[in-house]
Amino acid sequence: MTEADLLYIHQPAGNWMAGYRLLEKAYREGKARAIGISNFEGEFIDKLQQKWEIVPQFIQVEAHPYFAQDELRKTTDRYGIRLMSWYPLGHGDRSLIEEPVFRQLAEKYGKSSAQVILRWHTQMGFAVIPGSRNVDHIRDNMNILDFTLTEDEMAEIAKLNRGVRYYTRTEEALAGFAAWQPTYEKA
Ligand SMILES: NC(=O)c1ccc[n+]([C@@H]2O[C@H](COP(=O)([O-])OP(=O)(O)OC[C@H]3O[C@@H](n4cnc5c(N)ncnc54)[C@H](OP(=O)(O)O)[C@@H]3O)[C@@H](O)[C@H]2O)c1
Repeated sequence: MTEADLLYIHQPAGNWMAGYRLLEKAYREGKARAIGISNFEGEFIDKLQQKWEIVPQFIQVEAHPYFAQDELRKTTDRYGIRLMSWYPLGHGDRSLIEEPVFRQLAEKYGKSSAQVILRWHTQMGFAVIPGSRNVDHIRDNMNILDFTLTEDEMAEIAKLNRGVRYYTRTEEALAGFAAWQPTYEKA
């Protein structure tokens, strides 16, 4: 039997608690090495916490130097849930990638600005899933563990943390996710 590295729920939509029960079952049966949640910010993580039998190992949420998830991390740190960053490079936003601090650090370490941003994620303790359709970028994005940003450099990057997201989910969007997700009760 092939086991999945990570199974997680994309959105807290529909009967997501029934879905989470299925993840717990898959984990117990050895079908998933890790289970997680995504976009369960605010009230949802607390609601899940009241009923979970297995603590999710990961929460996948938008995170990048402009939005470092300060509030959520107070909760995830308490439960030992690891953050996984989506839109880690700002969905390709040039204004993020070309921030002067990243250009300077890229020059210092002989890396690209994107590599510096990805290294920042790992040093924040985040798992990171950059998207790319470019073979050179994909190779670069894995080559980020041979340099270390100093505490002062991490502090400089922290100054970019504006608490601004690229994507904000609306109630309407959440209802839309519920409509196309499977009916967990029938699974
Ligand atoms: N759970 C969720 O709700 C959720 C929501 C959104 C996204 N995600 C996931 O998050 C992951 C990343 O999302 P994303 O791809 O939209 O955003 P991203 O990783 O922040 O940005 C991707 C952009 O960065 C560019 N890029 C990648 N590597 C680069 C490099 N080394 N140098 C320069 N530019 C580089 C890419 O261009 P090139 O193609 O030219 O490299 C692309 O334009 C995906 O797996 C996605 O499915 C999850």
